[in-house]
Amino acid sequence: MSKKIVFLGTGGTIAGTAASAVDNVGYTAAQLNVDQLLVCIPALPDTLGECTAVFEQVMQIDSKDMGWPQWLALVRRVCHYLTMPDVAAIVVTHGTDTLEETAFFLSQVLPRDGLACKSVVLTCAMRPASSLAADGPQNLLDAVVVARSQAAHGVLVVCAGGVHAAHAVQKVHPYRLNAFDSGDAAALAYVEEGAVRWVQRCPQSDRNTAFTPELLERWSQGPWPRVEIVMNYVGATGATVRALCVEPSDSSPAVQGIVVAGTGNGTLHHDLEAALWQAQRQGVKVVRATRCPQGCVVPGAGSDAALPHAQGLSAVKARIALMLDIMATMATSLKTARHHPP
Ligand code: SIN
Repeated sequence: MSKKIVFLGTGGTIAGTAASAVDNVGYTAAQLNVDQLLVCIPALPDTLGECTAVFEQVMQIDSKDMGWPQWLALVRRVCHYLTMPDVAAIVVTHGTDTLEETAFFLSQVLPRDGLACKSVVLTCAMRPASSLAADGPQNLLDAVVVARSQAAHGVLVVCAGGVHAAHAVQKVHPYRLNAFDSGDAAALAYVEEGAVRWVQRCPQSDRNTAFTPELLERWSQGPWPRVEIVMNYVGATGATVRALCVEPSDSSPAVQGIVVAGTGNGTLHHDLEAALWQAQRQGVKVVRATRCPQGCVVPGAGSDAALPHAQGLSAVKARIALMLDIMATMATSLKTARHHPP
């Protein structure tokens, strides 16, 4: 049976265009559909080998505007294709700005079975498709090479020849082509001249086991839990947290979780810390991450018990994990309430 590689387009700079070929900043993201990107790559048929390409435009957005409805649409299409026996892998084109969040989200909600021997490879570009030296075509080709690799499984990110795990990858530069890094975890592999050089095994799934695709469908009408991020810095106070915890007077949802990006090993200004403790006493879930770009909060500090640490996640990923935990807990308590009426 001939295998398929599915290309799902979501927009981003990889699909962006500018009026001038030398303008790599003043462009409009999300202008070309994924099939238009693919036809511009003469080497694609060779790289696909015996696989055939299937493509679908799931959305067309600048990834700064990514939200729950878009994630839901993407998960549905990825799940749809993952279950097909003749689909070998899925390549998603995505903007770089929130790519690490989408990759982590997918890694937490896609069915473990579906990813046991298949990969979902997200790729992107730092320069628009109209650029004199666009990086998108090479990144797309590299993504196909990774998608076809027998060693690839799970949710992966490919950019500038680096292959990264969803859990570790972060955008670390606003301009250079090699904009992604996996910090201490390091890249999983490098794509060189059409071959993947693996330096680590793809990690086993660390997905949120409480979070089933059925649960995601139950949340399809939204609104998803509101989880906000605050930061510690010189002169920080608890004012933002206290404001967040005031019951909204309009129909906007109340805050259910706060991730704090602490200084260093998750340390917090005493006023901010007091406000977070108060929020926690009010029932808001609080998680402590670090604002350091590398490493993670090392457990053992006195405040661990009071404000749990982020389990090695960056603040933006800890926010997603907390949101999914709240969704799973709320679904369980609803079920329990239904089974045991008061
Ligand atoms: C985006 O994230 O959609 C725009 C920026 C980029 O892709 O580099």
